[in-house]
Amino acid sequence: MTRFKIFRFTPELDKKPWYETYELEVDSNTRILDCLHIIRDNYDPSLAYRWSCSHGICGSCGVTINGLAALACQKLVNHYVKAEEIKIEPLGFFPIVKDLIVDMAIFFERMKNIHPENLFEINPVTVSKQLHQSPLEYSKIVDAIKCVMCGCCTAQCPVTKEEEPEFIGPAAVLRAKRYIFDTRFGDTEERRQIIGEPHGVWSCKTYWRCTRVCPKGIQVTQNILDLKEELKTQ
Ligand code: FES
Repeated sequence: MTRFKIFRFTPELDKKPWYETYELEVDSNTRILDCLHIIRDNYDPSLAYRWSCSHGICGSCGVTINGLAALACQKLVNHYVKAEEIKIEPLGFFPIVKDLIVDMAIFFERMKNIHPENLFEINPVTVSKQLHQSPLEYSKIVDAIKCVMCGCCTAQCPVTKEEEPEFIGPAAVLRAKRYIFDTRFGDTEERRQIIGEPHGVWSCKTYWRCTRVCPKGIQVTQNILDLKEELKTQ
């Protein structure tokens, strides 16, 4: 039997969060997301958690498992075989909507602030022809492109969580780096200024926690360090 300790909290009903424990007879190769499905389907249909693709693509099933942010669909029971129990909590830093669901509005707002959508508007470039990129140029952005915007890095970042909640967070910095280093886009100067403002890239204190938890294996901290070096060359 595997013991699951699940964070429960309905802000409208509960004075404070509480934990519910479930014992499941599951194969060690069962995904944590499937364990949540089993609990919801067999024990408590009111358990709230977010998911969609079940395959590490949509980024919506981020939770904290035994203290570390992760995608529930990517983690198996046997990843926690040495632990006494599997404790599942919502992602840190974000306000709780219900149980394991958090409000990620601030996360997407901060991503938006570095203008991911305005690729050609700030300083328009000609897009009537193909924008070529060399393998070397592509190699500088390929890691950052893998981001699925799950928020795990931001939820685990000590700066965001404990020291400077206004810090835009590793995911937004990573996204800015991706566009600043992308030679096909012409708005780099504007984005450099945005990311260099207070609570931007310089607030990162290189704790490496973002890299540790990134479910896509992105070297988030190294990307941030690369961006800092790039900005210093201004
Ligand atoms: Fe889509 Fe886990 S459900 S990433």
